[in-house]
Amino acid sequence: MKRNIVLLGFGNMGQALVRGWLERGIAPESIRVADPAPAALDAAAKLGVRGAAAATDALRGSAPDIVVMAVKPGQLAGALRSLTQAAAGGRPPLVLSIAAGKPIAALTAELGADAAVVRAMPNTPAAIGRGMTVLTASPQVAAAQRELATDLMSAVGAVEWVDDEAQMDAVTAVSGSGPAYVFLLIEALTRAGVAVGLDERLATRLATVTVAGAGAYAESSGDPAAELRRRVTSPGGTTEAALRVLMDGDAMAKLLAEAVLAAAARGRELSEA
Ligand SMILES: NC(=O)c1ccc[n+]([C@@H]2O[C@H](COP(=O)([O-])OP(=O)(O)OC[C@H]3O[C@@H](n4cnc5c(N)ncnc54)[C@H](OP(=O)(O)O)[C@@H]3O)[C@@H](O)[C@H]2O)c1
Repeated sequence: MKRNIVLLGFGNMGQALVRGWLERGIAPESIRVADPAPAALDAAAKLGVRGAAAATDALRGSAPDIVVMAVKPGQLAGALRSLTQAAAGGRPPLVLSIAAGKPIAALTAELGADAAVVRAMPNTPAAIGRGMTVLTASPQVAAAQRELATDLMSAVGAVEWVDDEAQMDAVTAVSGSGPAYVFLLIEALTRAGVAVGLDERLATRLATVTVAGAGAYAESSGDPAAELRRRVTSPGGTTEAALRVLMDGDAMAKLLAEAVLAAAARGRELSEA
């Protein structure tokens, strides 16, 4: 499938996506971006893609196969309106939105009930090509369009699909907000390291590299995390002493379950607002 892409909103995530697409060999001539911020337009010029301050200018004469909405959630309705005005009756075949918490209904409210739309939930590590994106689509999205959406989002990391949009609140609570839980783990492990006598710099480095390395190891080994944990826990050893504290009364698992439940409930509230 040819890929004429128009991207509205060229901030952090938009730029990460375009960098990923260029690295995957998508021709810069087939990408157009729109963003009112001068810094964003400078970034577009540096990457060799055509940028415009207004969506209408980016869309004029472009015949996109897909329009990607990478504006902030509060800016989505306005950007969709400029999209429908620019398209003047000729709606783009596929619209993909990465706006957090904005349901498919928020897109079809502006584009029409029968529009082909994909809702995506990426996460922050997409900035370095290590994101986790979950996609869900309106019924009008054809198989080839799902493939296009998968291809474009896999330029910034792993991709999964869910059929039931209601699962997006759970997805947001696990992978969308998840990086913050891991950053908190790094902070807490750093503080704990300082408390047992390390200096701040060394404690920070040990905590950061250990979390990154353990995550990469869990991903590449393919073995269940519980099995990996058992393998590094020698009976009567140091790891066992620590895990006895963390797993007492299932403390850590319960706390995380509560946190994820709170995030999912908040996600539901926000998407119904
Ligand atoms: N960053 C993440 O890790 C992450 C993770 C998951 C989902 N997301 C989602 O990704 C989206 C983008 O996030 P971000 O961090 O990249 O935000 P961002 O850096 O603020 O980028 C959004 C850009 O869109 C521009 N914009 C506003 N209205 C526009 C319009 N009508 N047409 C074209 N451009 C317009 C903004 O310009 P102004 O600044 O001048 O308004 C800004 O430069 C958000 O909806 C967020 O929920 C982000």
